Amino acid sequence: MSKHMLLLHGPNLNLLGTREPEVYGKATLDDIKDWVMRYVQPYGVSMRAEQSNHEGALIDILHVARNWADGVVFNPGAYTHTSIALRDAISAIQIPVVEVHLSNVHAREAFRHQSLLAAVCLGQISGFGWRSYILGAQALLGHWGLIG
Ligand code: DQA
Repeated sequence: MSKHMLLLHGPNLNLLGTREPEVYGKATLDDIKDWVMRYVQPYGVSMRAEQSNHEGALIDILHVARNWADGVVFNPGAYTHTSIALRDAISAIQIPVVEVHLSNVHAREAFRHQSLLAAVCLGQISGFGWRSYILGAQALLGHWGLIG
C-alpha cells in the first residue's frame, strides 16, 4: 500500500528564503515542498505540507495526521526547545516523526542544544540546510522498508 507523508513546518519557517539566509539558506518553503515531493514520488509516496506559527495549531495538525499519515517530517522551529505539549502530541499519535533542522542546532546558542522532542521522534537531523528535509524523508522511506 502506498504511503502518505506529512511535511510539517513550525513557527517563522513561512519566512524561509528571506529569514537570516546566512543561517537558514535561500530556499523557500515552496522550494522545499517541491524538492521533497520530487524525492519521494518515485517511491509511490504522496505528500502534504503544512506550516503554522501556533503551537496549538501544530498539535491539531498532528492529531489529524493520525487519520491519514504514515509518517511526518517535522521542523518544529523554536518549539523544539520549549514545547512539552508538542512532545506529548508526538507520543500520543504513534506515527513515526523525524525531527529536522536546517541549521546545526548543536553548534548554535546553548538554548538550542536541547530538544524536548527528539526522544519521542524516530531521530533528529540537523545542519544540512534544505537537504535535512530530504534526509528526513529518506529516513521515513527506510523506516517503511521502501529503500534498503
Ligand atoms: C530551526 C532551529 C531552531 O532553533 C530555530 O528556532 C528555528 C529553525 C532550524 O531549522 O534550524 O526556527 O528549527
